Amino acid sequence: MDSIIVTGGGALKGEIPIAGAKNACLTLMPATLLSDEPLTLTNAPRLSDIKTMTELLASLGAEVTSLQDGQVLALSSHDLDNHVADYDIVRKMRASILVLGPMLARHGHAVVSLPGGCAIGARPVDLHLKALEAMGAELELKEGYVHARAPGGLKGGVVDFPIVSVGATENALMAATLAKGTTVLKNAAREPEIVDLAVCLRRMGAQIEGEETGTITIQGVERLHGATHPVVTDRIELGTYMLAPAICGGEVECLGGRMDLVGAFAEKLHEAGIEVSETKRGLKVARKNGPIKAVDVITAPFPGFPTDLQAQMMALMCTAEGTSVLEERIFENRFMHAPELMRMGANIEVHGGTATVRGVDILKGAPVMATDLRASVSLILAGLAAEGETVVSRVYHLDRGYEHVVRKLEGIGAKIERVSGR
Ligand code: UD1
Repeated sequence: MDSIIVTGGGALKGEIPIAGAKNACLTLMPATLLSDEPLTLTNAPRLSDIKTMTELLASLGAEVTSLQDGQVLALSSHDLDNHVADYDIVRKMRASILVLGPMLARHGHAVVSLPGGCAIGARPVDLHLKALEAMGAELELKEGYVHARAPGGLKGGVVDFPIVSVGATENALMAATLAKGTTVLKNAAREPEIVDLAVCLRRMGAQIEGEETGTITIQGVERLHGATHPVVTDRIELGTYMLAPAICGGEVECLGGRMDLVGAFAEKLHEAGIEVSETKRGLKVARKNGPIKAVDVITAPFPGFPTDLQAQMMALMCTAEGTSVLEERIFENRFMHAPELMRMGANIEVHGGTATVRGVDILKGAPVMATDLRASVSLILAGLAAEGETVVSRVYHLDRGYEHVVRKLEGIGAKIERVSGR
């Protein structure tokens, strides 16, 4: 198993290219199942989660060809010969559930294993299932699988989500494009990945309105056609690298970064005393002199502060001046990075969904363990600022969501290497 060794100290300077969004790509890829014509995705990230989705789609009979070193994905679902998404693949990645809506919409039946994924809470899929039921799907849970049928095809319906769910919105949105009549999704997620999916589906011929408003109206069409679509910039990778100069000092330009993708997060950085400015090529982040100020954070659906940047923000707060309170309102068990950061000298108290971080002068390098995707990168960020060497083990979590992390951080002057068998 590989580890990443980070030697802390020193300001960071330079530029980092930001990849296409993992979470957008993972919902755009299953959109291929809605049409028998080809879908081409450009600006795709090179990640193990994308490989897992490729494997899943291939198991269903779709063709996925990776071109230009993985940055272009050519997908075709002309001949789907299997409607069963098997546990062996689905358990590796929760986003696998996103094949359910499209398969059901196009073929009238689908069997999908219940997913696994990051261990950051219970993460049920009840909202996905209720949304499909509102469109006339008949569902049965048997031996860990969802058996879904819509004998006469899905029908438009009204779905009023009791809480905002990104995945359930995506599944319902895809399914509704081919349902008969009009579907209205209320209290829908408004994340940039949802907007990107709606844009792609419209390119394929879908009729969708309101994806940025929380109420999405979809007029079902007979069939969707082929399209080419560039994957939106990864706002979580962007936010993560914006934190590198914030933690270590220095100045870094994140190429392709957009303020509208990270508004609430950039505001918190600003409050903490970090400069964020828009450039022609992206976003520039600078921390010149002076301490980091402690700020409080509450995670919320977009446009609020993203839960996927909470762990990384906590790494910044570990050496801030004062006390910061981070409230996790999306996932109940998302502070697994806290004990690892404490091994590096951080002063953190966790009570339920609230973490209180009292800033310390300096973190100290230590052997630490990645527990999930975002937790692992928070440990790397902390390691960049710490005195001495930090060894982060179980970095396979990192490969799910960050392409070329070592190369990108080396490019801005970080001392970081990946070693095997340590
Ligand atoms: C997506 C992202 C993930 C991010 C999360 C929240 C992908 C592949 N993953 O995950 O990185 O952290 O959005 O921004 O895009 N819930 C239910 N029932 C359901 C579905 C969700 O109770 O059927 C709950 C979840 O447990 C959670 C909340 O709703 O507490 C939000 O989850 P959701 O937005 O669905 O997250 P994902 O789509 O799984």
